[in-house]
Amino acid sequence: MTDLLDYRQRFDSLQGCHYLIANSLGAMPNAARDYALRYADIWASKGVRAWSEDWWMLPRVVGDKIGAIIGAPEDSISMHPNVTSAEEVIISCFGNQTSSSKRNKIVMVDMEFPSIQYLYQAHARDKFEIEVVTCPDGVSVPLEELLAAIDERTLLVPISHVLFRSSYIVDAQAIIEKAHSVGALVVLDVFQSVGVVPLDLTKLKVDFAVGGLLKWMCGGPGACFLYVRPDLAETLEPAFTGWLAHENPFGFERGSIKRTSGAYRFQSGTPVIPALYTCQGGLDLIAEIGVERIRERSKEMSALVLKLAGERQWKTTTHTDPEKRAGTVALNLPDGQALCETLNARNFLVDYRPNSGIRVSPHFYNTDSEIIDLFVEIDGLIAKASQTSSSVSHSAN
Ligand SMILES: Cc1ncc(COP(=O)(O)O)c(C=O)c1O
Repeated sequence: MTDLLDYRQRFDSLQGCHYLIANSLGAMPNAARDYALRYADIWASKGVRAWSEDWWMLPRVVGDKIGAIIGAPEDSISMHPNVTSAEEVIISCFGNQTSSSKRNKIVMVDMEFPSIQYLYQAHARDKFEIEVVTCPDGVSVPLEELLAAIDERTLLVPISHVLFRSSYIVDAQAIIEKAHSVGALVVLDVFQSVGVVPLDLTKLKVDFAVGGLLKWMCGGPGACFLYVRPDLAETLEPAFTGWLAHENPFGFERGSIKRTSGAYRFQSGTPVIPALYTCQGGLDLIAEIGVERIRERSKEMSALVLKLAGERQWKTTTHTDPEKRAGTVALNLPDGQALCETLNARNFLVDYRPNSGIRVSPHFYNTDSEIIDLFVEIDGLIAKASQTSSSVSHSAN
């Protein structure tokens, strides 16, 4: 078995920096460049023939590769440019809803990724009533309150599997069971879990799942996905549709759509072909390593981040139970944003989010010493800042 650190050789992008930000944008594997070149070569050599020979089936090829990692059957995953538009496809399946319909309630938490909140809230005007469950500690989801909010009037429960701010792992099983017991459907956003927390969508019996490959899957932007439970898929008629979803797309028939079955039922217009190439570098790699292995290493590294933060009495916005924590630990330090900018300028790649802090997200390619280096760097920056402020106050006196 290849040692995890040997995979560093497949990432030239790791040279010259401390890459600790997989929750935002995973490091680029060399294979992504190879795939990008393959795309360019095919375009140049085949021209328009590339559509029939290589590109038409590409969303299916990529969707099936993702499915093999997250426990989804073949032909159940469609590809979209981002998660917000994948969610829009789902919402468009419930177009005949009105605000007076008996089942029109959307239940979501206030720590949901903002784009998803904006989308459902914008639809709420004419279609839905939204019940927002507050997460008082800013870290975890109050499960009992969330389950209580899901009732016979609930249509959809869009929920992140892992909260983007705190990396908290939500109890998806309990939410899906409650939703199904009252006839509601669950949309699980696996963006922050795919590639770092093992997933089995079939076992979970989840209705929809959305996610993207740019974070823990090291796949770059533009390749996001939508899973629909196969037995449910055939009953749905998305209004956000297009010619790829037609049963005879090259017939270019007039009028309304005659829908195809399988994953393409949820495609719309021309897919983002370059992204569907580059994303496969990371996809192949994660499939080769296996997410179980990545998760074990990830737990070790987030424990190290927490230990180093604890030694310094720095606040973190992360759950203490390793089973409830995914790959990120956020350090809630004073002047976090400015600190983060300085770290980035010094090639320590992390990010900053308000109400969360400096997010540190090591992945399978990181070493313990990179994490230790980050803390030593922050120690130095804090010491320098306090020296500067004490010399300013001396000179002011
Ligand atoms: C949980 C979650 N959902 C959605 C998104 C982003 O969605 P989109 O692909 O529409 O930009 C993010 C991005 O960080 C995320 O963490």
